[in-house]
This record gives sequence, structure tokens and C-alpha cells, in this order.
Amino acid sequence: MNSETITHDVIVVGAGLAGTWAALTAAQRGVKNIGVLSKIHPLRSHSGAAQGGIAAALNNVRPVPDTGSRGPLEQIPAGAALVDGWELHMFDTIKGSDWLGDQDAIEIMVKAAPGIIYDYEHMGCVFSRTPDGRIAQRRFGGHSAPRANYAADWTGHVLLHTIHEQALRHGVQFYSEWYVMELLIEDNICHGVVAMNILDGSLHTLRAKAVMFGTGGYGRAFKITSNAFANTGDGVAIAYEAGVPLMDMEFVQFHPTGIYRHGILMSEACRGEGGYLVNSEGERFMEKYAPDKMELAPRDLVSRSEQMEINEGRGVGSDKQGIFLDLRHLGKDKILSVLPQVREIAIDFTGKDPIEEPIPIQPTAHYSMGGIPTTANGQVIADSAGTPVYGFFAAGECACVSVHGANRLGSNSLLEASVFGQRAGKAMAEYIQDGAKLHPINGDPTKRSRQRIQTIFENEGPESVETIGETLKQTMTLNCGVFRDGTRLQQAYDDILALKPRIKTAGVMDKNGRFNTDLLAALETQHLVAFSEVIVAGALARTESRGAHSRTDYKERDDENWLKHTMAHKNGADAPRLSYKDVTIDMDRFPPQKRQY
Ligand code: FUM
Repeated sequence: MNSETITHDVIVVGAGLAGTWAALTAAQRGVKNIGVLSKIHPLRSHSGAAQGGIAAALNNVRPVPDTGSRGPLEQIPAGAALVDGWELHMFDTIKGSDWLGDQDAIEIMVKAAPGIIYDYEHMGCVFSRTPDGRIAQRRFGGHSAPRANYAADWTGHVLLHTIHEQALRHGVQFYSEWYVMELLIEDNICHGVVAMNILDGSLHTLRAKAVMFGTGGYGRAFKITSNAFANTGDGVAIAYEAGVPLMDMEFVQFHPTGIYRHGILMSEACRGEGGYLVNSEGERFMEKYAPDKMELAPRDLVSRSEQMEINEGRGVGSDKQGIFLDLRHLGKDKILSVLPQVREIAIDFTGKDPIEEPIPIQPTAHYSMGGIPTTANGQVIADSAGTPVYGFFAAGECACVSVHGANRLGSNSLLEASVFGQRAGKAMAEYIQDGAKLHPINGDPTKRSRQRIQTIFENEGPESVETIGETLKQTMTLNCGVFRDGTRLQQAYDDILALKPRIKTAGVMDKNGRFNTDLLAALETQHLVAFSEVIVAGALARTESRGAHSRTDYKERDDENWLKHTMAHKNGADAPRLSYKDVTIDMDRFPPQKRQY
């Protein structure tokens, strides 16, 4: 198959909100020649699956006075006191992160939040509205005020369409169904990527002055996940293979409401609009675990509470591994107007209409707090001293800036992807305008990827890639899930070690070049195995409980020893080498506190 060398000033990998914001912003700042590679159609990117809202303290609505913390919301009347502000958003995010979020990055994000919402609005984004025409807002878990700005339960979808249109308008070139296989870094400078055109299987070298990864998350390492099939963490695995460390990978978010046995998202908006979580005895059990916030406690706490109910025998479903999400009291009109997608998904996947019946749900692997370490401008860093990898940028879920620390608040991810995608776009434009060059590429950069594919085609098996992927997902869900302990984590680690040689010899049935999904699954599974080792190694080492990392053998948060970020470095074929990095904390304003809801 012919191999072409393609040249751009900027190459963005991933066409979700982070990648598309970066491409658009660089184009708006005068960069002419920008290519965005996406392994799926850009408008199928997973940002579009975030349903419930994007956080920003706009102060458009407030709880109706004297109706309690979960009472109805109303527009804030002219002249009335405001309920929200960036400081409160900042505090909620820091508390949600269990003090592991970097406070300088959080401050940047929450201050930029209202501006980015108005950017979307000015581009024509179809937000839901209050009766007087302001952008509608709802409650979300762990937020002290209603600040999730929404478009019914299609928020990510409408944001993605809005920004994609603008990128096209500014001449950004999209490569749909191109799969990046390798990052070309030499002497700490990024020169480009190697990618496969999935349509015909051809491999290409793409040279650029700056490369940005907005490649999304890795929920597909788990059996029960809300993530799309495409979310196989290719970006983090490719960066790690190229020598970039991965940060805080042990912090994996389990969303409390994935459809029972499927994992598909039932938006947090269900609870934001007033939905209940109920056990097999008909109890709203959150009363026991978070009497103030109830179902709107942060996700880590709600998922743990559900899991405790399940573990103590009060689950629902034939195997008692589920919990009920009850929306019936919201009424048909409200469900149809603000949760229409949730209703359709529930009917399609459970056969139950939430207008009439409670929906069985369970915690589902949803979001990766960790990833490729970056500065607040998206500059990727190579170590805890902050040494830059020149020409390499990252933002969104694949990156770790770190605004979410040990646990992300719902509706902060669309915000993070937008704000830090935009900042990475600005930083790349400046990098290029400051004289960044195209670096010479020596030899045939596609050789390694070609060899990797050849080996997969030549493997005789006997195992299939699918069996290996299934084994990995089982052990990750069972042994590195909502609750963890040293014995189970060690089991997960041993299972992964056993899978490493097996994935090297696994074969595929289809050995053709054109649109070979068998081959893609093999490459993706290699990535899943590679970064899962990092997740488990970090989790085994971290002998405390913090945010989404909850160890039953180390139940307490241990600030003395563990108030630090993990940095995992590739160490040949051996276990990752772990080093640690300080958390940025403003001790005067937001010193660590006990986290209670
Ligand atoms: O539940 C949701 O609608 C998801 C939003 C998020 O992860 O931020």
C-alpha cells in the first residue's frame, strides 16, 4: 500500500471538544494549515455522549427560597442576590477532587467557564432556556449551586456540532477514520505522527510543527462502562510508548447510573432533575451516606453507596447487582422535555419506560481523571520538574492538567475539554508564530507500525484478541473497580502480566488491508493492556483512599504520605517506574480539609 508523507503546521489527533477547540482556536489565530485526525467520524466523538451539562457559574437560576436544598428552581429575579460565583465553583471542584486537583489550573478553568459558554452561545449553540430566555441551568452532584448549563440531555452533542461547524468554516481539514499508531518524538521534540487510513489500510507519516492529542478516555478497559467502543485509550498508550509519563492513572471514575449490565449512561441530569436512587427494600439509601446532598453527592460517594447496598444484599435485578433509578415522580412532561434521550435509551436497553417504571442501573466506568501530564497551556511535560516535550500538546480526557484530581465533578469535563482545548490552540499558534520548525524525519517512520501490523497478521494464535480483551475487562472490573484492596489489585496486576505475552501472539482472522476492524481491535487491545498495567501499578502503590480510589485495606485519606500526583514512566518491559509530583495548593485559601457531604 502506498505510503504518503503529509505535512501540516498543526496536527490534532481526536475530534472531540478538546481537539476541535484547539484546531479552531489555532485557525482563528492565523495558523493556516491544520489537520484533525479522528479514528471515527468526528461527530461520533465521545464528547457528544456527555448528556447533562457543562458547568459555569452563570447565576441564571436559584432554588426557590424556603423549599429545601432539592426543591424547585426559578430564574434569579433582577436585583436578587446571586447564588454562585467562580470562587464557589473553585471550592466545589477542589473538594470534589479530594484536594488532589492543582488549584492554579482549577482557578483558570472556573474563571474561564462563563466566557466559554457565551462563546458557544454566540456560535449559535441551542441551549435550553429559562422562561425569560437565559441559558437554563440544573443541579449536578457535588456542586453547591445549579450551574450545569444544558441543552435537554443532548448537551455534549450540541456543543460538538457547534464547534465542528466553526472549525470547518475556518478551513480546518478533517481526516475521518484515520487511526494514529505512533508519535514521532526525538530528543524531546515532537516531529509528527504515523497514522493508518482505516479505509484502505495505508500507513502515512504526518509531519507537523505541533501535534496535539485530544484522544479521549479509556473506559473500554472495563467490562461495564459508559464509554463508546472507540474509547480505548490509544492516545495515552501511544504517548507512554513514546516515553511520555502518565499521571494519576489510578483515579478512574465510576458514574453511579450506568444501565444495569450494559453500563450505558443514564445522565446525572436524572438526579439533577430530582430522580431518586432506591434499593430492593424501597429505601432512598443515600439518606444514610450523604444526608445533605442525597443523590446529588459527588459520583465517587454515590457509586460507593450503591456498591455497599449491593454488597449487603439490597441490590435489584436477577443477580441483585443493580439499583433502581426512579424518575416516575418527575412526571411525563418533565421527562419528555428535559430527559428525552435518557428515556429513549432506557426503553431501548431495558425495555422499561422511566415514565412508568424505575430503571435498573449500576456504577459504570465513566471517566479517567489521569492521563498525559500537561501545563495549563496544554504543553505536555516529560517529568515532575516540568520539562516540556517540545511541539507536543494535549487536552481533554486524555490529558491530566490536573483539574479533577482524585474525582471529577459531573459537568466539569465538557468545561475542561473546552477551556483547555482552547488554551492548547492558543499555545500552539504562539509556538508556531515564535518560529517553530518542521523537523527532518530520518528513514522510514512507518517501519515500526508496518512491522507491528505484519506481526499481528503472521500470528497463528491460538488465542483471539477478543478473548484477551475480555479477560482484561473482567479483571479490571472485578479487581480494580469501585472498591479495591491489595489482594485484588495484585490479582489484577498478575492477570495483566499474564496477558502481556499472550497479546503478542494473538491472531486475527481478517488479514486484509481495507477497513480491517479485526486489526484495529488487536491494536486497541494492545493499548488497553499497556495502560491498564499503569492504572493498577499506581493503585497498588497508593496505600490510601482518596476520591475514586477507595481501598478497603487503607480506608483513610493520608495527606502526610499521599498528597501527591503519581507519575508513571515506561521502564522497558518491567513494571512502570513510579515517581511523584507535588500538588499545587493555595494553603491560605483552600488548605486540605476533611471531605464531607
Ligand atoms: O451524567 C452526565 O450527563 C455526564 C456528564 C459528565 O460526565 O460530565
